[in-house]
Amino acid sequence: MQFAGSHILSVNQFQRADIEAIFAAAARMEPYAHRRRITHVLDGAILGSMFFEPSTRTRVSFGCAFNLLGGQVSETTGFEHSAIAKGESLYDTARVMSGYSDIIAMRHPEEGSVAEFAAASRVPVLNGGDGANEHPSQALLDLYTIKSEMHGRGGSIDKLRIALIGDLRYGRTVHSLCRLLSLFDGLTVHLISPKELRMPEEIVETMCNSGHDVSETEELESHIAHVDIAYSTRIQEERFGSREEADLYRGRFRLNQNIYTKNCEPNTVIMHPLPRDSRAEARELDNDLNANPNLAIFRQTDNGLLVRMALFAMILDVVEQVDSEARDVGWYTGSRY
Ligand code: NCD
Repeated sequence: MQFAGSHILSVNQFQRADIEAIFAAAARMEPYAHRRRITHVLDGAILGSMFFEPSTRTRVSFGCAFNLLGGQVSETTGFEHSAIAKGESLYDTARVMSGYSDIIAMRHPEEGSVAEFAAASRVPVLNGGDGANEHPSQALLDLYTIKSEMHGRGGSIDKLRIALIGDLRYGRTVHSLCRLLSLFDGLTVHLISPKELRMPEEIVETMCNSGHDVSETEELESHIAHVDIAYSTRIQEERFGSREEADLYRGRFRLNQNIYTKNCEPNTVIMHPLPRDSRAEARELDNDLNANPNLAIFRQTDNGLLVRMALFAMILDVVEQVDSEARDVGWYTGSRY
């Protein structure tokens, strides 16, 4: 696809070559994300960050990614602080905000809302999550993480064995990830969820049509026994009618060190888009996994910077200028990566 000037609304926009291009650009961002070099390539550019649903890492990492390329961030968070609370339409908000920014990252609780906003925007819009629909940048960072965690198999995603666990009905990260995985060959996919929270039929069909071996189950332990990746998710409480309804499913599929040791192969990588629900009644990924070197959740969050920097640089068409606008950092940076 042509990245310069494009919106990123759905992973359906991508072919394999596009993903390879994003990952190549993401790898080039490492010296900047890892605080060895700084670049000013987006000096003067403004990101409009508009998050109308709770968010920590997506909102902050979009912002940091833009800052790391030398740009500035202008934030709008929550309907109550925006004119949408006064009845303003997405169309009007998009016309206004796109006059104030060079690119916009947006999260909104309704499916299709970010695409509606983008249609009226005068600048590129990145979907930071629209209801239960899609979360493209998360799926890209998840796939980037999978690829780097699979270095032992040459970084190949073809023939990957993966278990997706939890709320597969409302979890937009797994929706986008499964659509991306459909571009690869010969995967074994275990979809582990309560039957009421199964992966949408259309996505299961897309994966089956790609030739993947897909099974749907309510049983955790035998289905995480032979996988490269166990990807856990949170019950998406905010999409249920009530807290009580979400409580029916919370804590149903828990992964802890004991269950991992008993059932998983020793190299199985544990992933989660975060936030994990660490309340006693949930704990889909127990804190006792924190010492497990195969817990990749904070490598995922670190990789989020690389992938979001790559998207900004590609959409604003500065990938080739990043290094020429750069210098070494002059402050103590430690060794956090
Ligand atoms: C996810 C989301 O918002 O869809 N979080 C994230 O962006 N990393 C997953 C979740 O909230 O459970």
